[in-house]
Amino acid sequence: MDPLSARRPPTGVSVSVGAMTPPENGAPDPRPTGATGAPVLRRTLRRLPALAGDLPELDPATLPEDPVTAFLRWFAAALEAGVPEPHAVTVATADAAGRPSSRVVVLKDVDEDGRFLFATDRRSRKARDLAVNPAVSLSFYWQPLGRQVRVVGRAVALDAAACAADFLARSPSSRAAALATRPGEPLDSVPALHAAMRDALARIEAEPGTVPAEWVVYAVVPEEVEVWQGSGSRAHQRVVYRRADGGWCRRLEWP
Ligand SMILES: Cc1cc2nc3c(=O)[nH]c(=O)nc-3n(C[C@H](O)[C@H](O)[C@H](O)COP(=O)(O)O)c2cc1C
Repeated sequence: MDPLSARRPPTGVSVSVGAMTPPENGAPDPRPTGATGAPVLRRTLRRLPALAGDLPELDPATLPEDPVTAFLRWFAAALEAGVPEPHAVTVATADAAGRPSSRVVVLKDVDEDGRFLFATDRRSRKARDLAVNPAVSLSFYWQPLGRQVRVVGRAVALDAAACAADFLARSPSSRAAALATRPGEPLDSVPALHAAMRDALARIEAEPGTVPAEWVVYAVVPEEVEVWQGSGSRAHQRVVYRRADGGWCRRLEWP
């Protein structure tokens, strides 16, 4: 018998992954040692730096009048600075009862109307939230620059042609994952996931024009955009743009 398989949990069982994995590379050991263990973790967290390093200064007078241009400039600066995955963005939604949830997606575009685009599956929790409550908040964090941008607005689903175009532009593995998935449903086993992916890849090869009806691109129409420049001195700078009279007004806010 495969010695590993004896340790595999039966399917459908919740698994706690690596909760007590020893630290590597001499990092402080965050594992509890006392009765509650809380002080060890607390000390470790207090020692961790935040907003360290040589961060840029923000001169608010240099910011453009519209926040989309500000975002595009900061995004270009993030690319230039080599920020890893600068297009990764946390999307927060809320269900009909106002219960929030958030997750990371990738930004697909900022279109000519200044809308922020991301793509997902209509059956996902975020899509189900947006179907009943289109209010949404996007949050970018570009750690090496100490910058975050928050975009608050309303999400609208693009039409079927735009969703199909986005889907067909994705890599085969990304399309296979989208075709194979059943978001949020219980999964019997990891091999079942791999088998579904293999089947989906074969389907894509046989029918390259396949587009799942569940694929959807959302455009977030911004109503408020905040650009935030962190500082090691903690005198962080916030500039908040809000829609007003068909344009944008902006002001500095206390951090
Ligand atoms: C870096 C990164 C990029 C991701 N990109 C996407 C994406 O573009 N679309 C998407 O639906 N999920 C993406 N995911 C997975 C989501 O975070 C999430 O697990 C999934 O969409 C289900 O979310 P939900 O159940 O809250 O709707 C990404 C995750 C990470 C970490």
